[in-house]
Amino acid sequence: MDATPPVAAPAGSVPQHVAIIMDGNGRWATLRGRPRTVGHREGVKSVRRTVDECLRRGVKTLTIFAFSSENWRRPRAEVMVLMELFLVVLRGEVRRMNHNGVRLRVIGDRSAFSEKLQRRIVEAEQLTATNTALTLQVAANYGGRWDITQAMRRLLIETQAGHLNPAECDETTLAAFLSFPDVPDPDLFIRTGGEQRLSNFILWQSAYAELYFTDILWPDFDEAALGAALDDFAQRQRRFGHTGEQVESWVALNDRTK
Ligand code: IPE
Ligand code: IPE
Ligand code: MG
Repeated sequence: MDATPPVAAPAGSVPQHVAIIMDGNGRWATLRGRPRTVGHREGVKSVRRTVDECLRRGVKTLTIFAFSSENWRRPRAEVMVLMELFLVVLRGEVRRMNHNGVRLRVIGDRSAFSEKLQRRIVEAEQLTATNTALTLQVAANYGGRWDITQAMRRLLIETQAGHLNPAECDETTLAAFLSFPDVPDPDLFIRTGGEQRLSNFILWQSAYAELYFTDILWPDFDEAALGAALDDFAQRQRRFGHTGEQVESWVALNDRTK
């Protein structure tokens, strides 16, 4: 094994990539005696706040779960409002995001979306493609298993065409076919809304993410709530299979050579 630490984020640092399961919109609205969809609309404000705060704090990639491949099971009316909201947000927010240097990308199986929505997504991605301040990845009709399966399917096609040797395919080969091979894996994985499960979000890429669960419902998630998650992350020691002592000695060495 190599002796050098696979340092992604030393203790005390800002995560380069934050992934969030934005959960609790429905309960937020129900608590107020309002329809669930009111919570989804309110949740858009939290997205805006979170994007701005990530920009301010120097997070380079933010991946947010907007609609899972399982969310089609919800009442039709709720699904329709969510799709409508997606369109409205794309129309209303993209200019501002572009102005702030945000590169927008939608991950997931978009073939299930209306043509209009698919067109909007492509336009937004093209408009913001060269921005570098923050990459915002919106997971829509996304599932972790879907991602691994579509990667495997494309890899099999390549091997069948003779472009890849199956005997030489390893983790790196498969990872190159996943939805976002060009950004580092998430360092911090946040779930709001009190549930402690992954709900089929970015499974492969989160293999070594630090998990953080908060009871705060997504529409209440603000700058302070994100700050608390980042502070918690900064206290963690990431070992990637090494021992705590190994990591401490590398940190000490790093401090001496600074
Ligand atoms: C998350 O909030 C948003 C989506 C899944 C689209 P929920 O709608 O799951 O809210 P709860 O969990 O029912 O409160
Ligand atoms: C996960 O939340 C999906 C999104 C936040 C978009 P859910 O609320 O759908 O998750 P489960 O079904 O409770 O696990
Ligand atoms: Mg939920």
